[in-house]
Amino acid sequence: MKWSKYVKPYLPYFIIGPLCMIVEVIGEVLMPKFLALIVDYGISENGMENAPAAIKWLYGLFPNANGFVLAIMTGMILTAILMMLGGIGGAYFGSKASVNFAADVRADVYRKVQTYSFANIDKFSTGSLVTRLTNDVTQMQNFINMLLRMCLRAPGMMIGALIMAFLLNPRLTVVLAVTMPLLLIVLGFIVKKGFPRFGIMQEKIDALNSTVQESITNVRVVKSFVREDRENKKFGTANSNLKKAGLSAMSVMILISPAMNFFMNITTMAVVWFGGNMVASGSMSVGDLIAFVTYITQILMSLMMVTMMFVMFSRAMASAGRIKEVLGEDVDIKDDHLSEEQKNATIEKGDIEFRNVNFRYYKNSHDEVLKDINLKISAGATVGLIGPTGCGKTTLVSLIPRLYDPDSGEILIDGKNVHEYSLYHLREGVGMVLQKNVLFSGSIEDNLRWGDQNATDEQLKAAAEAAQADKFVSAFSDGYKTDLGQGGSNVSGGQKQRLCIARALLKKPKILILDDSTSAVDTATEAAIRKAFKTTLSDTTKIIIAQRISSVRNADTVIVMDDGKITGIGTHDELMKTNEEYREIYYSQNDKKEGE
Ligand SMILES: Nc1ncnc2c1ncn2[C@@H]1O[C@H](COP(=O)(O)OP(=O)(O)O)[C@@H](O)[C@H]1O
Ligand SMILES: [Mg+2]
Repeated sequence: MKWSKYVKPYLPYFIIGPLCMIVEVIGEVLMPKFLALIVDYGISENGMENAPAAIKWLYGLFPNANGFVLAIMTGMILTAILMMLGGIGGAYFGSKASVNFAADVRADVYRKVQTYSFANIDKFSTGSLVTRLTNDVTQMQNFINMLLRMCLRAPGMMIGALIMAFLLNPRLTVVLAVTMPLLLIVLGFIVKKGFPRFGIMQEKIDALNSTVQESITNVRVVKSFVREDRENKKFGTANSNLKKAGLSAMSVMILISPAMNFFMNITTMAVVWFGGNMVASGSMSVGDLIAFVTYITQILMSLMMVTMMFVMFSRAMASAGRIKEVLGEDVDIKDDHLSEEQKNATIEKGDIEFRNVNFRYYKNSHDEVLKDINLKISAGATVGLIGPTGCGKTTLVSLIPRLYDPDSGEILIDGKNVHEYSLYHLREGVGMVLQKNVLFSGSIEDNLRWGDQNATDEQLKAAAEAAQADKFVSAFSDGYKTDLGQGGSNVSGGQKQRLCIARALLKKPKILILDDSTSAVDTATEAAIRKAFKTTLSDTTKIIIAQRISSVRNADTVIVMDDGKITGIGTHDELMKTNEEYREIYYSQNDKKEGE
């Protein structure tokens, strides 16, 4: 991964910005000299005999000292205007470069996260991804902005001021030879102490965002368990950790400015002491001494700028590393190996076959979540999948649209390995209502059209009817235009499930997977949904995961799972005879729900 990719499109800004700053630096270096001329030749005229020829010539052009001073001042004003233009240009192009850079990086990070497989997403926390996308990119943006303004300015000012100081009085520059190394040592020490503290600070921001993200997304659960105190405490801890990390970093960084001032004062005093003697003995003019002091200030200031640059550099590097992790993450589920022909292949029928499939979520763990799964489902069949929670039902169906890939064995659709379909066509052909499903903010209509962007109003209604959602949607005063809150918060659990089913139906999938998707729907409505499926989805392969026997007893085949293994396959009647577990589930439910 190369950062240059983000610099290239804005290269002119990256170059013009620093160049503008050079104009400012030149002005800054010239100003003290102008001032010295005014002091030495405009205010006190006694040094004129020893003045350089150019000054004598310039002075001669004017009738008196006032004219000379005005001329120099005009030069100063022009320089000041140029400096201002340079400064504006530098800031403008610097911002343009850094803001564009950051926008492109953000776009790429976001796009990359969209390609992540479920396994990739499991690896980073959502909070951390958000911090990386926002705060870390901003850190880099700030650094680039600063870099473009300082990279030529700081060294330029240091060198320019050094040269000018040396030209003014070589002997006096010796003072710098003593104080500069001392200051460098002190600044270096501060930066070295500060570096790691900024890294820690970034981690604490991560933790804080994760906490905020989790508790605000799940604020309803927090409230229903009256756990606001606990959440406040959790946030308080994260917040105070961040505060401590911030203070610890700052406690070092605040030393920079006082240290600078101290050295600046010491150096100025030394210069005035030695320089004063030179003025007294006539080997240096007052104006030159004033200019010299200004140059010393400039040299030390530029040292401080370089130090600050190092500090920001270290923060930006920490952030760059974290962004790189996201961009460099190996997306483990890909389809870029396909031939042109394979890319266009769609699911035609909906036959499914599992051959010796094994799967683990954690590749270094021995415990397999799915163990040697063998399974054949023919197109158009209705298959029930039942078993205790945690036995691997969701995991098993997740492998069909390649939300995860198996560790070994293969999954075939219409006789072809799922790897031989493009992810787009595979997932278009497999409609899946996830167990933890969500709707998005927007109208009901918008949400249903996720299934099919071009669906007509009649098609929307038909899908909703099949999912037994039409009745309650039509009862809303805005009907299909009713706005859903974030995550579909203003419909009930069972209504949400039915909208999710309607959304999946609109895809007209060849394979439809309902993962416990009617758990919050009453049994009568559920039966109506099943009945509608018989007519509207007669060709579609339907896999229905459920807790209730009544949800699966009419299926063509029922698969019983336990602890990652299939323990029985057959019709309801067959399983009642042969499968102990199935019988147990049946009796446990039918004691309570007689006559269902
Ligand atoms: N994203 C995940 N990362 C790690 N382990 C998981 C993940 N999802 C499920 N598991 C584990 O895999 C096992 C099977 O889970 P799952 O397929 O969801 O069961 P079911 O749907 O039958 O209730 C469980 O032990 C669960 O803890
Ligand atoms: Mg499940």
